[in-house]
Amino acid sequence: MTAVDTTRFVTLEGLEGAGKSTAMAFVREWFEARGESVVTTREPGGTPLAEELRHVLKAVRDEPVAESTELLLMFAARAQHVERVIRPALSAGHVVVCDRFTDSSRAYQGAGRGMSSEVIEQLAGIAHPGCNPSLTFWLDVPVELGLERAAAREAADRFEQEALAFFERVREGFVRLAEQYPERLVRVDASAPIDAVRARIESTLEARYG
Ligand SMILES: Nc1ncnc2c1ncn2[C@@H]1O[C@H](COP(=O)(O)OP(=O)(O)OP(=O)(O)O)[C@@H](O)[C@H]1O
Ligand SMILES: [Mg+2]
Repeated sequence: MTAVDTTRFVTLEGLEGAGKSTAMAFVREWFEARGESVVTTREPGGTPLAEELRHVLKAVRDEPVAESTELLLMFAARAQHVERVIRPALSAGHVVVCDRFTDSSRAYQGAGRGMSSEVIEQLAGIAHPGCNPSLTFWLDVPVELGLERAAAREAADRFEQEALAFFERVREGFVRLAEQYPERLVRVDASAPIDAVRARIESTLEARYG
């Protein structure tokens, strides 16, 4: 696998309804205003095969989904996405902005479901060796506010049906990730008004890429 420059690989993370999709538009617009070509994409998904896996992962079903099944499907989708979309786009000189990436596996499957972090890092090494984001915006909202925002939109998927305690563990997972990766992970107070979220994102981008 050829090495790729990941300087301009940016990800957005946070709970459901935190404002990731909203923030993605701000990141895109900031780069485009500087004449850059931007590829925006999302996980799980981002290719036809990976979007099929997204559907499989999110569907509400009677059959309980084993934690290891969920984890492996997430990384299967990610491997395909990195190989088919993210690496080629970075190689071609595009900025890549991705809505969720491996930090979501660390937070949801790791902190939320209790899967081993060693196993998660091994899978990351298989699915996307040498291809990690350089900047991650963590849109941090209180669990209840995020779920409230998400609920206003569509029927709850398999993840959104989890109990509050699950999402509290996921949020704690993001708190620990921010401590673990202080250079890469930028916490954005996503309970603030949208204008303030935008200003925080733009000033961070200015400091990193301006
Ligand atoms: N800072 C904010 N203040 C108030 N409302 C917000 C803010 N950010 C986003 N919203 C609104 O909350 C809702 C959810 O935002 P958005 O879709 O961006 O979240 P998301 O993190 O992408 O959610 P999901 O995980 O479900 O994809 C949208 O209706 C959006 O307009
Ligand atoms: Mg979204």
